[in-house]
Amino acid sequence: MPSRAHTTSRLLIVSNRLPVTIKTGSDGEIAIERSSGGLATALARVHLGRDSLWIGWPGEHFRTAALRRRVERLLREEYRCVPVFLSARDIHRYYHGFSNRALWPLFHSFQTYFSFSEEEWESYAHVNRLFCNAVLEEARGDELIWVHDYHLFLLPQMLRQHLPEARIGFFLHTPFPSSETFRVLPCREALLRGLLGADLIGFQTFGYMQNFLWAVYRVLGIDAETGYLSVGGRQVAFEVHPIGIDPKQFLNAIHHDPATKAEIKRLDKSLGHRKLLLGMDRLDYSKGIPARLRAYRRFLGTHPEWRERVMLIQVAVPSREKLVAYQELKREVDELVGEINGVYGTTTWTPVQYVHRNLPFHEICALLRRADVALVTPFRDGMNLVAKEYVACQENRPGALILSEFAGASSEMGEAFFVNPYDEAGMAERLHEVLSLPEDVLAERMQALHKRICAHTVDDWCENFLTSLASAPSARATRPLTAVERRKLVAAYRRATRRALLLDYDGTLTPLVKLRQRATPSPRLLAILAALQRDRRNVVAIISGRDRHTMERWLGGTGCILIAEHGAWLRDPAEGEWRKLHPELRDDWKASVRPILERVVAQTPGSSLEEKDFSLVWHYRTADPEFGLWQARELYSQLQGMLAGTGLQVQSGNKVIEVKWAEVHKGAAAAHLLERVQPVDFVLAMGDDRTDEDLFAAVPPEQWTIKVGEAFSAARFSLPSPAEVLDLLQELSGEEEKACAQDA
Ligand code: G6P
Repeated sequence: MPSRAHTTSRLLIVSNRLPVTIKTGSDGEIAIERSSGGLATALARVHLGRDSLWIGWPGEHFRTAALRRRVERLLREEYRCVPVFLSARDIHRYYHGFSNRALWPLFHSFQTYFSFSEEEWESYAHVNRLFCNAVLEEARGDELIWVHDYHLFLLPQMLRQHLPEARIGFFLHTPFPSSETFRVLPCREALLRGLLGADLIGFQTFGYMQNFLWAVYRVLGIDAETGYLSVGGRQVAFEVHPIGIDPKQFLNAIHHDPATKAEIKRLDKSLGHRKLLLGMDRLDYSKGIPARLRAYRRFLGTHPEWRERVMLIQVAVPSREKLVAYQELKREVDELVGEINGVYGTTTWTPVQYVHRNLPFHEICALLRRADVALVTPFRDGMNLVAKEYVACQENRPGALILSEFAGASSEMGEAFFVNPYDEAGMAERLHEVLSLPEDVLAERMQALHKRICAHTVDDWCENFLTSLASAPSARATRPLTAVERRKLVAAYRRATRRALLLDYDGTLTPLVKLRQRATPSPRLLAILAALQRDRRNVVAIISGRDRHTMERWLGGTGCILIAEHGAWLRDPAEGEWRKLHPELRDDWKASVRPILERVVAQTPGSSLEEKDFSLVWHYRTADPEFGLWQARELYSQLQGMLAGTGLQVQSGNKVIEVKWAEVHKGAAAAHLLERVQPVDFVLAMGDDRTDEDLFAAVPPEQWTIKVGEAFSAARFSLPSPAEVLDLLQELSGEEEKACAQDA
């Protein structure tokens, strides 16, 4: 049950940027500025209304300890903020470098601006650790921790290591790029692992979330089939939470703030009959300002009737000015503004007014209220709050929002006038069209937008995210088998007089391999199994989905009990031949299922069909991962519909789709075996795949169940890989030296 009570818990907001940026003048005086950008704007509102503390970088390098103390006191006392101080070197490498020269361009699909350096990446990890320490100093253990944006991808996992029970949320304000683009990053795996330390990851749009899931699948091989990502025995939730604004703040200013009202009047007077077009952005190449200006230039050229009747005010808030890409952008914008005004301006008319600074709130409100058209035309934007702020200010007014189809906001603002920001001619025509539309048409569209923006505010966004975070699954069913637990396991084994070892094969005793016929047992494994088997107190069974012939060939010499095809067949060397555990099984159904699988094999290069006595399996480990998964999902639902009520079951495992009898599973086989060998006082069951969950369920809860790998599981413990499984079994077998010698 979602618990709203949790959402009133103390909140730790963690982001690179604080709501205010501190600057020191040459005289050592401190100046405080409101930070720009969607994150600071939205979270400032969240911070205002809650019991929260905001941890972040104050925006400069402060040289002396005395200055740092002053800044810290000011931020704590006046703003409930905790500064994370960065050295000049880290600002250069972590902020300007990795965050804004690698991640920002890549996440906005500007691959040409992307640059990666080891040094910058190391500094990024270092600064994430500094943030981690700062959070640990403030955390009391009962709060919600909410990490924001691309600067802090590594932080959730770092926090998780210190605070395993903490509720950690992450929200990405930017887009998440396509998996191909993301995979350009050499440190892609570490970034995803870092992020997956969170309990809940939020995205602005469904598209970004899909991109993220594909990246996780391609890079880490983790599939979110169950609605969660299974990592390290935990479940990580992912959701879409489009960020909103606080419309009241704007409407209050427009209706009640004298400075805003005066500014609107002033604008009215200076504009006269002219239509006001407004662009308002951080000066960032993702915002598409030059393309917008070129479209405007074109519009004035192709539609001379609008000259003198419109005026564009472009507000560009300075941003990341130390970076070359931003300096070049500034030059380009300056030149374009000059050129347009030079070519089309008259003594009484300036086509573009350009403002290159952060405006006070009342001036922003007045512009948003008075503008007849807002041009929000980014090439790429996580959300774009200006689009929403404009709509909020257009209460009972017929303003027109021209919106890029590549802004996250476009997925919520269907009544806007969409443009492709790369199509300058199209933008120019769209502008002409919008300016020519009757007011009632514009008003109707604007009021629909206005209603929606007012119904999904930033408060709702925050409440919804935190409610989800509070109710995200936190139970960590599976704990890593630590040295302490391992010692307990070994002691229990040694004490026991009769033991059952139930072991899966692929992925547990041997690593998963691309060619399944290559998964032959190593001499070391065979020696360990044989040694375990020789101990009279042990019953060792290998319970696999493999066919009985392969099992016999590979493992027949160990003397272990072999259970093949998930429990369809059993061979106990003490009894002799293979026998069916379910005597009534038929295989006549294969004739209708085989053609379906054969067709998928033909359509999916790299995939293959495996036929066993009582099951059919489609393997796609060597197919294109994304196409393979797509086909697997299609196949799964097709077969599920077809086999309903037949007693057959379609099961999806690690890169396989298998059709088999539902009653045949590893749990039934394990139960059968345990009953035969009773009384046992020690059971160890190990497995890596979903079919092994049945096995774990059949083992008494106080006994030893171990999941191999990091997927979420009902097993009590986990081990990372078959290598650790073998080490453990070797220790139990007590034949360490001998096995090692064999291997050599
Ligand atoms: C975007 C990012 C924010 C960032 C803001 C301003 O909105 O998503 O994380 O704070 O831009 O950029 P800056 O580099 O000045 O923090």
